[in-house]
Amino acid sequence: MIADIDLGQGLRLRTLTAHDVDLVVEATGTETARALWGPRPAGPYTPRDARAALNAWDPAAGCQASYGILKHDRLLGALGLMIDGPQSAELAYWVRPESRRQGLALRGINALTRWTHDELGLDRIWLEINPANTPSLGLADRAGYRYEQRLPHHCRAWTTPEPDHDTWHDCMIWAHTSLMTSSAT
Ligand SMILES: CC(C)(COP(=O)(O)OP(=O)(O)OC[C@H]1O[C@@H](n2cnc3c(N)ncnc32)[C@H](O)[C@@H]1OP(=O)(O)O)[C@@H](O)C(=O)NCCC(=O)NCCS
Repeated sequence: MIADIDLGQGLRLRTLTAHDVDLVVEATGTETARALWGPRPAGPYTPRDARAALNAWDPAAGCQASYGILKHDRLLGALGLMIDGPQSAELAYWVRPESRRQGLALRGINALTRWTHDELGLDRIWLEINPANTPSLGLADRAGYRYEQRLPHHCRAWTTPEPDHDTWHDCMIWAHTSLMTSSAT
């Protein structure tokens, strides 16, 4: 799951590892909501949070990895790939607040989608999006993903640690298949 991709304009997309704790702490410093790696913390990561997140996303384990969008060794955003079947992976994304609306997520998702089809050989990449998340829905559409279905009460809001006492919202499933790449070229 190791990638190192030139995104142009001095930007690079590379797999994050346990050595990137300081980058994650710096990048999440102005975040007030959740970032990429999990529901907690909702806000800035401490070094301990970052270490736990990067360990949970250890690419060497082979089931999930996170990929940083970097400029001059500064982390501007990250994408996460979670393998959930022999031909399938879920993709998630996050861009640090002050770097949004600059086309970074679009560059990242385009590159990682292509790489996942071509290098990992996975046919299907899918997204799970809260219907209220207008930026994410727009991004999915711009990146050429196709809307599949709306799953009622499927996603957890993580307002409390106990699942039974939490609120659950609908989720929109979007997907990209290898076929869509080959028919686009
Ligand atoms: C969703 C997110 C990753 C988008 O990152 P970004 O780098 O700002 O997105 P881009 O600049 O690449 O935008 C690409 C397209 O997405 C859509 N988009 C992005 N932000 C948008 C916004 N605030 N409102 C409406 N559309 C938006 C647009 O279609 C945009 O294309 P355009 O600029 O030509 O109109 C970012 O807002 C974010 O990190 N949000 C918090 C985390 C999150 O919600 N992750 C997704 C969980 S499913």
